[in-house]
Amino acid sequence: MRLAMKALCALALAAAAVAAWGQYPSRPVTLIVPFAAGGPTDVVARTLGVAMTKTLGQTVVIENKLGAGGTIAANFVAKANPDGYTVFIHHNGMATAPALYRKLPFNPLTDFDYIGQVADVPMTLLARRDFPPNNLREFISYVRANKEKINLANAGLGAVSHLCGMLLQQALGVELTTVPFQGTAPALMALLGGQVDVLCDQTTQTIPHIKADKVKFYGVTTKHRIQALPDAPTLDEQGLKDFEVVVWHGIYVPKGTPREAIDKLNEALRAALRDPMVAARFAELGAQIVPESKQTPAGLRDWLRSEIDKWQPVIRKAGVYAD
Ligand code: MLT
Repeated sequence: MRLAMKALCALALAAAAVAAWGQYPSRPVTLIVPFAAGGPTDVVARTLGVAMTKTLGQTVVIENKLGAGGTIAANFVAKANPDGYTVFIHHNGMATAPALYRKLPFNPLTDFDYIGQVADVPMTLLARRDFPPNNLREFISYVRANKEKINLANAGLGAVSHLCGMLLQQALGVELTTVPFQGTAPALMALLGGQVDVLCDQTTQTIPHIKADKVKFYGVTTKHRIQALPDAPTLDEQGLKDFEVVVWHGIYVPKGTPREAIDKLNEALRAALRDPMVAARFAELGAQIVPESKQTPAGLRDWLRSEIDKWQPVIRKAGVYAD
């Protein structure tokens, strides 16, 4: 009798849980952004958040958690309650962190569940407006000749601006003084104000400044020219052969998040990426929505794994560590 009662209670609890999950989300969902407000990741997150709200029926609240190239936020999410209400957006930093940080307090492959990929974003190589070189050829010789005087801003060790700057220094055979910020929003402000010299930054934030001629612009970091800046040459076509950095974004939740929440978040992500408002905004920012096969949990997990394999040897060869 007692056993039968226990079984009935367990069934009732399970039914209640299913009913509760049927209502997910019943309150606002927080989307953690690992870099400063107003910057490239933040812009993608806010555009996506507004569109995802339409499917979720609940507000997506953006929270910027800064520091250490995105690893502070990633560690926070890895240890957060896996209830579907803490969601995380991050870029290539999720794949480069295991090589850059020898004592990383989280594991991108075991501490998260995956929702899907979002969009790919090209980077642009910029300098302050009064930086002497006027094109990439002049930039290369000027930087080689003045390497001890030039500084290179980034968004912290593990940020894509750091990765791009690291590859640039390797390609030019120079070592510059790096100036880390907590996102490229403040780094770009410093570049516009003339306090730093050079910055690799994403089109999602740089296009208006390039068009308004507020910065020196030396080219895009993709293999092919991009629609949002059709006249802009690539670094590759100007002589920096095979120089390519493309920023990709993924949406994560803490490991153990209920399947119902993962499915709902994925449905909201896919709907957002079909939303004409998102398509128009991303096109303006130079962001390319990923194919549907990548907008899935498996698409993100497999991609992350391949990116970890890709960047580990590059970073180890460069001998750069964040700790
Ligand atoms: C940001 O949002 O500030 C960037 O994604 C930083 C970076 O990784 O360069």
